[in-house]
Amino acid sequence: MQTAEIRRRFLEHFAQRGHTVVPSASLISPDPSLLFTVAGMVPFIPYLTGREPAPYPRATSVQKCVRTLDIEEVGKTTRHGTFFQMNGNFSFGDYFKDGAIQHAWELITGRVEDGGLGFDPEQIWATVYLDDDEAADAWHRIAGLPKERIQRLGKADNYWHTGAPGPAGPCSEIYIDRGPEFGPDGGPAVDTAGDRFLEIWNLVFMQYEIDEVRGKEEFRILGELPKKNIDTGMGLERVAYLLQGVDNMYEIDEVAPVLRRAAELAGVTYGRDHEVDVRLRVVADHVRSGLMLIGDGITPGNEGRGYILRRLLRRAVRSMKLLGIDEATLPELLPVSRDAMSASYPELATDFARISAIAYAEEEAFRRTLSAGTTLFDTAVKQARAAGKPALSGDQAFSLHDTYGFPIDVTLEMAAEQGVTVDEEGFRALMKEQRDRARADARAKRTGSVDVAAYRRLLAEHGPTDWQAYDTLRTDSRVLALVSESEEDAATTGPGEIVRVVLDRTPFYAESGGQVADAGVLAWDGGRAEVIDVQRPVKGLVAHQVRVLEGELREGAELTAEVDYEWRLSACQAHSGTHVVHAALRQVLGPQALQSGSYNRPGYLRLDFAWQGALSRQQRTDIEDVANAAVRADHKVTASYMTLPEAQAVGALALFGETYGEQVRVVEIGGPWSRELCGGTHVRGSAQIGTLALTGESSVGSGSRRVEAAVGLEGFRYLARERDLVRQLADLLKSPQDGLVERVSGMLARLRDVDKELAELRAQQSVAAAGQLAAAAKDVDGVAVVTGSPSGLNGGDLRTLALDVRGRLSDRPAVVLLASEAGGKVALVAALNPAALERGLSANDVLRAAAAPVGGRGGGKTDIAQGGGTDPAGIPAALQAGEQAVATATGR
Ligand code: ALA
Repeated sequence: MQTAEIRRRFLEHFAQRGHTVVPSASLISPDPSLLFTVAGMVPFIPYLTGREPAPYPRATSVQKCVRTLDIEEVGKTTRHGTFFQMNGNFSFGDYFKDGAIQHAWELITGRVEDGGLGFDPEQIWATVYLDDDEAADAWHRIAGLPKERIQRLGKADNYWHTGAPGPAGPCSEIYIDRGPEFGPDGGPAVDTAGDRFLEIWNLVFMQYEIDEVRGKEEFRILGELPKKNIDTGMGLERVAYLLQGVDNMYEIDEVAPVLRRAAELAGVTYGRDHEVDVRLRVVADHVRSGLMLIGDGITPGNEGRGYILRRLLRRAVRSMKLLGIDEATLPELLPVSRDAMSASYPELATDFARISAIAYAEEEAFRRTLSAGTTLFDTAVKQARAAGKPALSGDQAFSLHDTYGFPIDVTLEMAAEQGVTVDEEGFRALMKEQRDRARADARAKRTGSVDVAAYRRLLAEHGPTDWQAYDTLRTDSRVLALVSESEEDAATTGPGEIVRVVLDRTPFYAESGGQVADAGVLAWDGGRAEVIDVQRPVKGLVAHQVRVLEGELREGAELTAEVDYEWRLSACQAHSGTHVVHAALRQVLGPQALQSGSYNRPGYLRLDFAWQGALSRQQRTDIEDVANAAVRADHKVTASYMTLPEAQAVGALALFGETYGEQVRVVEIGGPWSRELCGGTHVRGSAQIGTLALTGESSVGSGSRRVEAAVGLEGFRYLARERDLVRQLADLLKSPQDGLVERVSGMLARLRDVDKELAELRAQQSVAAAGQLAAAAKDVDGVAVVTGSPSGLNGGDLRTLALDVRGRLSDRPAVVLLASEAGGKVALVAALNPAALERGLSANDVLRAAAAPVGGRGGGKTDIAQGGGTDPAGIPAALQAGEQAVATATGR
């Protein structure tokens, strides 16, 4: 039975039993605590926990899932696949254990003709959690399973959670007995290898909420869920391999075609050699996972999801390399995977141009990395062996990683193949050091060299800063503390000194979310200080770095804190402009052009986003157009607070890697047109942004582009400068502005014509010169010797001339030696005819002799040699030396 058919039967079975069919969610987990969707229940977590009312009492889905915890095991055992599909049925406070067991039993034992899966009831075993008498009883009562085929197992097997805080519960698993040829009898409880008794379906009785998850069996039960729910997961691939009579999930209809194509490319036969088989399975599994992940909008990168995708693709490429394929392999394999998967996921076919471009670019990048890094690796291995210790140091592994982008597992695998060990601990220590350094740098920026503990104490003593940046540009404030970077007492400071000031209340925006800190002044009776930086060294506390301009600033002083109005307006324009450009990018390029980082300050913004390849001129124009149309439309800009799930429900863009609190702030421009989670300051209406002028577009690493723009008055100035440039050119060329392009292309065409004419003239001249030179040949011991120094010829023209002269002297032994000065350099050519060669002469010798006086060298064949020098003054001597060489060789 085809995989797509099993999937169809599953959904049909549950639809007939009152379940709403819900399409698969993205592999990018809708739950922010998980990187990927790891189970069918993930999209339903809000309903299972009761945080949101379930829109239906029963649901069913076939969910795309990715788990990469066991990536090393892929292919070695038959059970691990990184991408898989989970068939599930869910009850939100509706049916419970009895219903779940009954529905499952009917589907697996139902006759194939009646839409069931047709398993023999005699083959079926079930496990339940240790004390779950209820479930054990239901299996006996409803399914008629004999007691000896219902086994009890502990937490490791029969308790389920996602690995993160959330819903959990005891579970009951359904096993198929594949028969005595796969191992001893005794049921899943004794078959620890899991070869004979294969788990196909897990029924979870979700009734608890857990937190402090430290491991599979270590977590804290917070309490009961408001309702008793059912979450089940049937491994589609496992059922498929049982029903298709193959040995494992790599051989089913959705995976095997890639495996077969890989074997064909490598010229190997699957099923003969364990090691080869493992590699083929890795390729088949990883190529499919890569396809599905890119399909869901993930692009390869160095962190988070992007890193996992990168690792999968690189492992696939490397496995092919180990099978002996040196060419790019994804262009052969990815289309095969697409064809195998698009029956269930037609978007893979329609979106294939984008998907394949990303995958192929990653393979190319990795191939370059591999060839550069492999050399370094080989040298390191050689050195290690020579030193008599077959181990790579942590340093070496780190430099492979840092310089060549070798994932540590690639280094480990390559080392293992060479019988060399790697100091993995040393490597990890260096990685940690690098990370710590980066973190310390970031912290130093926030706190200066001041110990964070000082700020923590202030926070504990005074509570969080009353932060009014959203509401006003000016507050009456009191100095709570002066924090100095020097050791000295900072109770007061005088003019010229720089100090950090903590106020009870402030209107200043502290640098965050890509927006720079506000500028402005603190003013008090008898003094003023300018604010040069504002940071939040600990959550809730704002610290202003100020330079005192006049007077003395003291702790306890009352002052007014005032943000520079122009500065803030420009900062708002730049930040709102960033949202507008982001929305425009996604409108023009598609939703996958997702922002990965941004920076904005008055007058300027830049935004990095996921994208392969440079933008075309048309795309850039379109983006600028859409952005400026949105400015002109004067969309209302609003900010509102809600929970993260609420924000996600209205499609607000949350940037991956950010952490968000209970309540998030959603900034909208034109309602749904641009909706982002953001803590920055913004204009009130988009028209206030003024002008957005794209000033640059560039690459910032593989799969990532950056656009830059000038904003507001700066945007206008940028365009004005361009206009001025055009005006200057028009004046210079005496052309109307809109005739400029025509004018310049006309000039270029004329220049090309003139070049051609010049070349023709030179050729004519050179023909004339050839005749004169040949006529002036000297006889040296029966050899016609021509020397000459036409000026202004480059090496190529000089050679043509020399050959022409030689051709004219074909009736006797002839040597032609020419030197020419062009642009302060000397070109030399020596040419001999066959009769001269017979006299034992060589163009090489003549040239070498001639080269010395012009401070040069050269070489070539015996009949023609070319060279050059740097000293034109030596030309006469060079010609003489050449002639002398002929004389010496002919023996005179
Ligand atoms: N959520 C359960 C699992 O993934 C069904 O096994």
